[in-house]
Amino acid sequence: MALITWDEHYSVKIEEIDNHHRRLFQILNDFYQGLRANQVKESILKLINELYDYTNYHFQAEEKLMEQYGYPKLAEHRKIHQDFINRVQDYRDRFASGRLLISIEVTNFIRDWLVNHILKTDMEYSEYLTSRGAK
Ligand code: FEO
Repeated sequence: MALITWDEHYSVKIEEIDNHHRRLFQILNDFYQGLRANQVKESILKLINELYDYTNYHFQAEEKLMEQYGYPKLAEHRKIHQDFINRVQDYRDRFASGRLLISIEVTNFIRDWLVNHILKTDMEYSEYLTSRGAK
C-alpha cells in the first residue's frame, strides 16, 4: 500500500512542478516500502539520499521559477525549504552514523510536511505564477 498518492487536488497548475511533486511522492513511497520490508541499512540510506537529493533539486527549480516571475514571497518560501532540507539532512546523518533508527514516524513526518507544504505554501504561488504565464 502506498503511503501517499498524488491526485489533482495537489496540482499547482504548472506541469514541471506537478511532475516534481509526483516524483517526490513516488520516492517517499519507495522509502516507506523499504522500511516496511526491513531492508538493510545501505538500502535505506540510498533511499533517504535519493529523497534528499531530489528534494533539493525540486526546491532549487521551484525557487528559480519564483525568482523568474518576481514572486514577492520568495524569501519566506526559500527559508521554509531550507529548514526542511536541514531536517532531512539531520535525519540522514544521524541514521548514517547509527544514532537514529528511522521509523514510520519519520516517514509520516516527511509525508505530512510535504502535503501541508504543497497544499498551503506552494499553492499560494500558483495563481501568481500562472497568471503571469507559467505553465
Ligand atoms: Fe514544491 Fe515549495 O516545494
